[in-house]
Amino acid sequence: MGRVFVAGSINMDVVATADRHPKVGETVAGRQVLYFPGGKGANQAVAAARLGAGTTLIGRLGKDSFGAELKAFLRDQGIDLGYLQESAEAHTGTAIITVAETDNTIVVIPGTNALVGADDVNVVPLVQGDVAVSQFEIPLPAIAAFFRRARAAEATTLLNPAPAQRFSRELLALVDVLVLNETELGLLASVELSEDDDAVRIVDAARQLQANQDQTLCVTLGKRGVLALAGHEEFFVPGRVVKAVDTTGAGDCFVGALAAQFARGAALRDALAFANAAASISVQRMGAGPSMPTAAEVAAVVKAG
Ligand code: RIB
Ligand code: NA
Repeated sequence: MGRVFVAGSINMDVVATADRHPKVGETVAGRQVLYFPGGKGANQAVAAARLGAGTTLIGRLGKDSFGAELKAFLRDQGIDLGYLQESAEAHTGTAIITVAETDNTIVVIPGTNALVGADDVNVVPLVQGDVAVSQFEIPLPAIAAFFRRARAAEATTLLNPAPAQRFSRELLALVDVLVLNETELGLLASVELSEDDDAVRIVDAARQLQANQDQTLCVTLGKRGVLALAGHEEFFVPGRVVKAVDTTGAGDCFVGALAAQFARGAALRDALAFANAAASISVQRMGAGPSMPTAAEVAAVVKAG
């Protein structure tokens, strides 16, 4: 059984809930202010760890109260923090989130996440069978160094290019499994895509992006499910329709669950169905990190059909 190594961001999510989002220049009264552990890297690590994978998180926190709180939370999840660093030069990453009618808007201030570099990842003890996971809230050179190291160790590399930004073919070529949503796919393949677009257009865009035949692409389509491209094959795994209260971190839950499944050697189709079930649980709970389900919770949902 392999381990999951996540190199990524750690944020404190400062969440305001309101009946509706303010328009630009407008003030609305909120209901609550809530503080949740978040950040795409941390969320994915929490999901993997709660789902039973041995998990290591590589990243940076500031020497401040948010940093101390986040560290305590991550430690409680059983995540290995041996490669986590604390930096005095910046504040802990912070996301200012508004949740209204289950939709969110997010402003992320990277803080110490922007200080993660190649030196942070070059010491990580990856071996064959491990899964190396990253996203775009840390500098791209650090991700490239991480994936190069993972490739040298014959570990699987999994990239979630979120929030979306264009990146080099060189980095793309280091990726075994790319997990992205239709907006990210649209940007990277230079086509306009929406969640409701027909499968043919989405497959076309995904084929255009696919770096080589060995690369697997998983395009998440919200409650519709996920479209997978693996080698010459393409297939669809339907999603679960549930009543969402907060979708923040649902994509991270999906990615963390997928990584945990790969680490135990699961087949792609089964791993995707499992990750769909996990994400459907996370959207029914407030917050990002704390909403990640356990293996038993996902098993119960899968069993219920
Ligand atoms: O993907 C959700 C995450 O994005 C939030 O937890 C927030 O921290 C932002 O980074
Ligand atoms: Na949630």
